[in-house]
Amino acid sequence: MNAWRAFLLMLEKIINHVNVFSYIKMVIDTILPTQASACRVYYNLLCSESFRRAIDPSSSPPAPFLTVSHTITIIIFMETVKEDNLQEFLLTLPSEKNWDGTPLLLFNETWYPANSIRGAVSFQQNFRAQDSDIILASMPKSGTTWLKALTFSVVSRDRYSPKESPLITAPPHELVPFLEVDLYLKSQNPDLDFPPPRILSCHTHYTSLPQSIRDSNCKIVYVCRNPLDQAVSDFVFVRNRVSGIANPSSSSSSSLIDEGFENICRGVQSYGPFWNNVLSYWKASLERPDKVLFLKYEDLKEDIILNLKRLAEFLGFPFTEEEEKEGVIEEISRLCSFDNLKDLEVNKNGVRPSGMRNSAFFRKGETGDWGNHLSPSMAERFWKIVEEKLDGSGLTFKISQ
Ligand code: A3P
Repeated sequence: MNAWRAFLLMLEKIINHVNVFSYIKMVIDTILPTQASACRVYYNLLCSESFRRAIDPSSSPPAPFLTVSHTITIIIFMETVKEDNLQEFLLTLPSEKNWDGTPLLLFNETWYPANSIRGAVSFQQNFRAQDSDIILASMPKSGTTWLKALTFSVVSRDRYSPKESPLITAPPHELVPFLEVDLYLKSQNPDLDFPPPRILSCHTHYTSLPQSIRDSNCKIVYVCRNPLDQAVSDFVFVRNRVSGIANPSSSSSSSLIDEGFENICRGVQSYGPFWNNVLSYWKASLERPDKVLFLKYEDLKEDIILNLKRLAEFLGFPFTEEEEKEGVIEEISRLCSFDNLKDLEVNKNGVRPSGMRNSAFFRKGETGDWGNHLSPSMAERFWKIVEEKLDGSGLTFKISQ
């Protein structure tokens, strides 16, 4: 075990506050480029008054967890950006708060989480697409995990039968890594040397994709979801990430949604505004239907078989008549279904290298859950805003409750 891991373990023992610790560890593992700066961040953290209050159960009054997590993220972010020449630039960007109070930075008309913006910028600058690449794009919480499982299964079906699929032992996010976070945040030059077709994913808007993705013959599949369910799924995900709730489906609504709601009405959310993200891919799919396939979560729920066929054809891996007769499409849809993936051991109890539980990506998997979290007036207000933004584009969403 190297010194860094030993240091983390020691701290874990000292700090008897699992939620705070796992949050810090997740942020640090994700964003810090060097062990040296990580040590400095821990030092600053341990010295900070709010942190001491958070881990000291006898402190009065106890520090609110969100304040602490926000402070921690800012400290880490400041420490990290000091280390490189992006510093001056990043510090000039407009900043707002995400649902959990962590910072979002506005760059290229997109709100990036501060702890992943370096990866997003590096991805935009350094990624070189190959013609055989498949890029899965989405607004967070729109069905990315599902799309990753489906695409992986379609493309690799000649190698693995559904019973032997790597999806049984690895989460979809491991088989299809995020370019911004899993790859370019960790290295300017990540190892992308895997056999074609490479399946990679991102949340970056179409207009900010590296030029080579737009210029090459690689394919893009975009999945989106009705904005009310997307916002609620995002809210619960972010809140559970912070509070470390193990079983995301068991959580109830809270007043926090009211606090963050104003922000989403202004488009301030991770990789938002929602309308810019979806419209960028919608327009690209109309202009270049051979390059960009535009899918909706609700349509996948309604008819997965039809949409699996569309996906396979678009990617150049169409199902043969024989496969159709043998029920291969149904097998893939079952393998990738919410109920099946959610109950796999790896997705129930596994943890991502960032410290995040795989179970966080499987909550309810339903349409219309917004009705349990947003009041009718909130829903109406946000819906009207989105409708206005999409007006004239031809893009519409179905809502159900
Ligand atoms: P809910 O929070 O509404 O349950 P993403 O993968 O983009 O992060 O989106 C997560 C959302 O997709 C969550 O929605 C999650 O439950 C749902 N989801 C994950 N896997 C799914 C699957 N195989 N089928 C349907 N929905 C799925």
